[in-house]
Amino acid sequence: MLKMQYGHFDDLHREYVITNPQTPFPWINYLGNEDFFGLISNTAGGYDFYKDAKFRRITRYRYNSVPMDNGGRYFYIKDGDVVWNPGWKPCKTQLDSYECRHGLNYTRITGEKDGVRTSVLHFVPLGVKAEIQRLTITNLSSKVKNLKLFSYTEWCLWNAATDGENFQRNLSTGEVEIEQHADFTALYHKTEYKERRDHYAYYAVNCPVQGYDTDRESFIGLYNDFSEPQAVLDGAPRNSLAHGWSPIASHYLEMTLQAGETRELIFVLGYEENAQEDKFAPFNGEITSLGERDHHIINKARAHEVIRRFATVEAVDSAFAELSALWDELLSKYQVQSADERLNRMVNIWNQYQCMVTFCMSRSASFFESGIGRGMGFRDSNQDLVGFVHQIPSRARQRIIDIASTQFPDGGCYHQYQPLTKRGNNDIGGGFNDDPMWLIFGATAYVRETGDFSILDEMVPWDNEPGSDVTLMEHLRISFDHVINNVGPHGLPLIGRADWNDCLNLNCFSMDPNESFQTTGNRTEGSKAESLMIAGLFVYCGRQYVELCRTKGMAQEAERATAHINAMCQAVEKHGWDGEWYLRAYDFDGNKIGSKDNEEGKIFIESQGWCAMARIGEAEQMPEKALDSAVNWLDSEHGMVLNYPAYTTYHLEMGEQSTYPAGYKENGGIFCHNNPWVIIAQTIAGRGNQAWDLYRKIAPAWIDDQDLHKVEPYVYCQMVAGKEAAKPGEGKNSWLTGTAAWNWLAITQHILGIRPTYEGLLIDPCIPADLTEYTVIRKWRDAQYVITIKNPNGKQRAEQPTMVPYSAGKHEITITL
Ligand code: BGC
Ligand code: NOJ
Repeated sequence: MLKMQYGHFDDLHREYVITNPQTPFPWINYLGNEDFFGLISNTAGGYDFYKDAKFRRITRYRYNSVPMDNGGRYFYIKDGDVVWNPGWKPCKTQLDSYECRHGLNYTRITGEKDGVRTSVLHFVPLGVKAEIQRLTITNLSSKVKNLKLFSYTEWCLWNAATDGENFQRNLSTGEVEIEQHADFTALYHKTEYKERRDHYAYYAVNCPVQGYDTDRESFIGLYNDFSEPQAVLDGAPRNSLAHGWSPIASHYLEMTLQAGETRELIFVLGYEENAQEDKFAPFNGEITSLGERDHHIINKARAHEVIRRFATVEAVDSAFAELSALWDELLSKYQVQSADERLNRMVNIWNQYQCMVTFCMSRSASFFESGIGRGMGFRDSNQDLVGFVHQIPSRARQRIIDIASTQFPDGGCYHQYQPLTKRGNNDIGGGFNDDPMWLIFGATAYVRETGDFSILDEMVPWDNEPGSDVTLMEHLRISFDHVINNVGPHGLPLIGRADWNDCLNLNCFSMDPNESFQTTGNRTEGSKAESLMIAGLFVYCGRQYVELCRTKGMAQEAERATAHINAMCQAVEKHGWDGEWYLRAYDFDGNKIGSKDNEEGKIFIESQGWCAMARIGEAEQMPEKALDSAVNWLDSEHGMVLNYPAYTTYHLEMGEQSTYPAGYKENGGIFCHNNPWVIIAQTIAGRGNQAWDLYRKIAPAWIDDQDLHKVEPYVYCQMVAGKEAAKPGEGKNSWLTGTAAWNWLAITQHILGIRPTYEGLLIDPCIPADLTEYTVIRKWRDAQYVITIKNPNGKQRAEQPTMVPYSAGKHEITITL
């Protein structure tokens, strides 16, 4: 079969290069890695927001639109009668050439038509609350070109949720300002600024313009769409001033380009906040107001500063160089050199990049997450930070404190908090009994990476209640105890609303289609529903807690915890083993889930991964048997499915899991997030070949059929359709998934085997026999380790791991397996 190709990796520039704009789905990238963010597709679709995709949405985007991916930051070029966009959309005029380069927090889109080339570089400078668009337009022809350029972006009325529903108010509230200086032109969005908002947005260009528009209907025309704005077709802006309806920002520039001439323009799309007391500015005489009404309400000093700071290409280029230097630095913390370029590409660039993005976004904003549904997940963020902590440990530290501050005094958790307020909320449910253990997972990973034990002494409140603070270490203890305080009839952890598998809702019993399984009633009273996934998690992360206690000299606490862990292991061996694999759960009435006795859902991946990682039942070879069963039953060409066979009917006692059609999502989909649990367990069992085989099946660098895979070929997706699905191998829910962090752990710490511990770096590779040599350069704390692994005899693992005690400075180590 001929595989359509839409692009390729450019490792030297750390970019993915898209050469055909008609990708099987919009292939997106993320701008910004601090507070100001943008999502940008390969045709310049997407939107910007500040900190919180729900409460501070800056530009408007319509999800699930027709056609797909409508709205973004568009440039229209009118050359005679032809109108085109450098990113092909929205006009879709056939281009002579097109290229989109998605790099690390930047995207460069270049289009060429009839001898004119336009290239736009989008990025967010470090420490700046704005997206810069550096536009370069060149006349490649031998004739003079008279061109008309229109920029376009549509404002969102801040709260993205109400923006999409409260039209009776929204269509009357919109307000803008227009400002022309000798050196720049800025269009401001100030809806609700005169009342409770202290923030505004602006879209500026570093020169005077020949016109503008701020009202969508005037610019586009009521019966037109983005592909044919009437103002552009007419080559004449309307100079409109928005009063309510839908405010936009569009600059109009006329330019004459001689043969070979290039013009550079800098657009700044920014956001600023003012203190209450100096929100407003009087008219200072300097402003040439182009509108008719009161145009000098916002105190614009901060916007002016940013616009003027980025007025020259030199300033923009130097900010871009800073971003690139930051990525040099971040990526340099872990680099592998091997003969396998796909492995290098995953480890050295894309997996690390995705870890940054998931750390920043949690599950809030992607082309599958609307930005209004979910903020920062308790469990999700703890996992994300483990993939990110080596990059910027101080930010991981803050994240741990923020997350722990939302916890309840009994160790239970809100399932999410909003990044803007940092307060927990129940919007996406609560009572997931795995949640507390993830805090131990995140916090111990942080301390192993940094050696910073002081975080454990930080005073952290319960549920953000001032005065309720206890140490973080105490939060960890209570997290551990939350599991032992909530065990069921078999001594196994009660599941609560669900565990890692949000859809294993064993206590919901929902018959009302208007209810969400995630938030509806949770009948835990009298429930016998127990989770083997939490059991494995508890043993694995519980041992991390024990190790931490020992390192801190808390021998008694370590012993107490060990006794509980041992009891849990026994409970699993006794009540959680099904003969060939670990059970998945017991339901409300105490019936088995994930057993050979079940007709559907005989075996689940989560308990195999976790209990095998925790080596429960080692003496009986339970881990090895469970791994073999997992591979036999769950594996497929595209990775391992979550459960098999998938459910084909709705099970009231199981909830959302059984609602998905067979082969999708939590019902038999390939959840890329839990494949690495099995991969890691394989390495712990010493099976390098098997681990590698499973790793390669889901790692994006090995995906060759881009049409089938559909979503971005440079990042992991949450789910790939499983073997029972209509289209096995089709990817969905790309970008925001714990898959990034877990595969990072799997490949760097367990396969390549360089693992930070409290006292040193543990070198414990478990690799495919045919990997003959590789070198890892690992910057760790104040040291740099250059570790070469030689494997001349085709082994999968060394007899013994090597512990290299921590000491500052540069170290070179060679190990022959
Ligand atoms: C999805 C899960 C997700 C949950 C979040 C469910 O519909 O299937 O993957 O974790 O929603 O609330
Ligand atoms: C996605 C959620 O973000 C994550 O928390 C959950 O564990 C998985 N889905 C599995 O349900």
